[in-house]
Amino acid sequence: MKVTVVGTGYVGLVTGACLSEMGNHVLCLDLDADKIKTLNEGGIPIHEPGLLEVVRNNVAAGRLQFTTDVERAVSHGTIQFIAVGTPPDEDGSADLKYVLAAARAIGRTMTDFKVIVDKSTVPVGTGDKVQAAVADEIAKRGIKLDFAVCSNPEFLKEGAAVKDFMSPDRVVVGADDERAILLMRALYSPFTRNRDRMMVMDIKSAEFTKYAANAMLATRISFMNELSRLAEVMGADIELVRQGIGSDPRIGTHFLYAGAGYGGSCFPKDVKALAKTSADAGLPSKMLEAVEAVNDEQKLVLVNKVVAKYGEDLSGRTFALWGLAFKPNTDDMREAPSRVIIEELNRRGARIQAYDPVAMHEASRVMPASAQLAYASGASAALEGADALIIVTEWKEFRTPDFDGIRDALKDKRVFDGRNLYEPALIRAMGLEYHCIGRP
Ligand code: UDX
Repeated sequence: MKVTVVGTGYVGLVTGACLSEMGNHVLCLDLDADKIKTLNEGGIPIHEPGLLEVVRNNVAAGRLQFTTDVERAVSHGTIQFIAVGTPPDEDGSADLKYVLAAARAIGRTMTDFKVIVDKSTVPVGTGDKVQAAVADEIAKRGIKLDFAVCSNPEFLKEGAAVKDFMSPDRVVVGADDERAILLMRALYSPFTRNRDRMMVMDIKSAEFTKYAANAMLATRISFMNELSRLAEVMGADIELVRQGIGSDPRIGTHFLYAGAGYGGSCFPKDVKALAKTSADAGLPSKMLEAVEAVNDEQKLVLVNKVVAKYGEDLSGRTFALWGLAFKPNTDDMREAPSRVIIEELNRRGARIQAYDPVAMHEASRVMPASAQLAYASGASAALEGADALIIVTEWKEFRTPDFDGIRDALKDKRVFDGRNLYEPALIRAMGLEYHCIGRP
């Protein structure tokens, strides 16, 4: 099939690349000429396992192309995905200006039937706004053209995006137009071959499903983070509690890890947006406000542990910091706990020597130039001359480190671990003082 994807961010690029992998002819549109140039030359602007290969192979096969030409992009696909950003407004609600601009561009340019698919995470009711924007542009041209709007939220996780897209748990499609449903079914059937994983519902429920999923997952994390603080005070071990409750199938084992707080492009933004939607509807959400507040506090938990040991004045101190990205297998720094931690430690006078396997380039782009932050060439280089080590992201290469090397390099032989990577008894036996999350 012929597919156009508007927006080559995380979701747009993965969607376009994976659809071309199944034989579709995909044209991706972005207004950022530099990005399009990189993509057409076979490069990708983000770190995402497996994505580069899929992009390269399909560009080489002629099934995947990138353009800045709106007219060419709109005329290409019968299915037009809108996968542009929905950044939070000042009040936390999702800003729809890019989504509606894309809808208007399609309405202004299209000449035949199109299925216009919202893939961006958008508030309930956006489908109607997209419908109205496209219809308005067509009416301005004084012509009549047929189109259908549908919602198809994306549930992929960064770091596992290609895998998640290629074998989804479910594909949610919100649509009330039979042609749109048939085309979406045809498009996704190769991805859901073993059993039908496509769920068709009304547009509003589909839009709502995405927020509900992310809000539920964020709630689990904040709940566990809050429990981890209580566990510390009570002398219980949150890791054992996690295993104890996770074995109940009603609870399940995933997404129960206490840590340094959730970050990324989705949870923080979507929790805020759903809270704003609830408030606007006259049903302010006590739950979501608490989820966000607990997470803001959790990003400071490691800083509080450092301050409890060293006092408020950290001038003259140097801390090694392992992991900058908001989670492993990505270079994404959006809402990363490391940003808050570095800022707070710098504010108290400390210097940071950081190492991340892939996110240092992105970090140097987003961190303020005034930050007292040096980048080390490797995990052990980051330890040189440092008082203590702080672990923020659970990259695999940090899981079984050279404990002797850590002990010998650190002045205070002290580790603050925001991801509970090590057995406390083991690391203590190696001569290190260990501070982790919710464990005695
Ligand atoms: C999330 C959703 O999982 C995905 O379905 C949606 O499409 C986009 O948002 P993503 O932001 O890529 O995906 O990352 P995810 O793996 O969900 O992790 C989000 C954050 O939660 C990370 O900061 C992670 O460190 C944190 N987390 C996750 C925990 O603190 N504990 C856990 O148990 C799981």
